[in-house]
Amino acid sequence: MERQEVLDNLKTMFKVLLNSQANNVDIDIYLKKPYLFSTENLSYLRSFKDNLSKDKNILTVLGSGDQVLASTIFGAVNFTTFDYNELQYPVYELKKAAALNLNVSQYNNFLLKTGNKKFFSPIIFNTLKKDLPAGLDEYWQTIISNINLSNEEDIAALFKAGIHICKDNLKKEFLPYIRTNKDYYNLNDNLEKIKLKHYKSTLIDLKNTLTDETFDFINLSNILDNVCYVSDESNEEIGNNIDVIKNVLYERLNPDGVIILDYVFGNSKNDLKENNIENKKPSNYNEKAKEIFNRRNRKLYNMLNDKFEINTLELPTTGLYNVKCGNRDTVIYTKKK
Ligand SMILES: C[S@@+](CC[C@H](N)C(=O)[O-])C[C@H]1O[C@@H](n2cnc3c(N)ncnc32)[C@H](O)[C@@H]1O
Repeated sequence: MERQEVLDNLKTMFKVLLNSQANNVDIDIYLKKPYLFSTENLSYLRSFKDNLSKDKNILTVLGSGDQVLASTIFGAVNFTTFDYNELQYPVYELKKAAALNLNVSQYNNFLLKTGNKKFFSPIIFNTLKKDLPAGLDEYWQTIISNINLSNEEDIAALFKAGIHICKDNLKKEFLPYIRTNKDYYNLNDNLEKIKLKHYKSTLIDLKNTLTDETFDFINLSNILDNVCYVSDESNEEIGNNIDVIKNVLYERLNPDGVIILDYVFGNSKNDLKENNIENKKPSNYNEKAKEIFNRRNRKLYNMLNDKFEINTLELPTTGLYNVKCGNRDTVIYTKKK
C-alpha cells in the first residue's frame, strides 16, 4: 500500500470513529467501519477441508481476514481476496502479524478479549509491528496510540460487531483457528507460506478484475444478504450479482470446486423453503421484523435455487445479526459437477 493511501485510509477511519461516537447510525458510516472478526460460525469450513488443502486455490471476500486465517489450518495457502472496504486489508495484516508472533492466549488477549488490559496493548504491538508491511506499521501505530480501546463503546465505534463480542467459549466454537492448540499451531505453521493477492473490488466488478485464474473454493460469505440490506433496487442488484456468480465465478471453478453462495443468519434450511411461509399476522414489532427478514432470505434462497444446484449446511447461530430470529444459521453452497 502506498504511504499516501495509508494516510488517507487513516483519515477515513477517524472520520468514521468521530461520527459514530455520537451514536450515529447513519448507514454510510456504519458501512465504512471494518470488521475486526467474522460474524459467522466459521466451523462450517471443516466440511470443505478437501477444497482447502495446500495445493488448492481459494477466492474469498477478505472481510476481517478470518475466512483466510481459518482456511489455512487445513493447509490452504493460495488466496485471491477482494473487498470493497479498503479498511479491511490493514485488519488482515494486523491479525497475521499477531498470529506470527503470539501464542494463542496472547493472541486472544491482544485481539479477541475486549476489556482486558492487553487488548490492543501498545507493548504487545511493539513486538509484532516488524511483521507488518511498510506503511501499515505506521497506520496501526497511529490508531493504537490515539484511540482508547479499553472500553466497549470505543471498540464498537471503530469496528463492526463480530466474534470478539461473543462469550469466550463461543469464540472457540466459531473461530476454528483458536479452537485447539493444534489448530493454532497449524495456522502458525502456514502463515509465512501464504500467497495472497488482494483486490479492492466489488463482487460485481470481479468480472473485470479477475484474470484467467481458476479456483477450488470460493467464499462469498453473506455478501448477497448485504446487497439486500443496502440496496433500494435489491431485486435487480441481487440478480446482477447472481449473474456474475454464475457467469464469471462458477466458470472459474475447478472440477469438484465449491462456492459458498450465502451465509444466512438466524434461519434454518426449513425456514428458507417457500412452502413454510406462515400466514399468521405478526402481532408485534419484533415479529414483523422477523417476518420481513425471513421473507427476504427466502427470496434470496429461491433466486439461488433457480440458478444453481444448491446444497445447505446448518449450524448453531452466532446470533451476530441485527434481527434476532432462530437459533440456526444456514450455509448455502454449490459444487461444480
Ligand atoms: C459480507 S461482510 C459480513 C461479515 C461476514 N459475515 C464475516 O463473517 O466476515 C464481509 C465483507 O464483505 C465486504 N462486502 C460486502 N459486500 C460486498 C460486495 N458487494 N463486494 C465486495 N465486498 C463486499 C464487506 O466490506 C466486508 O468486509
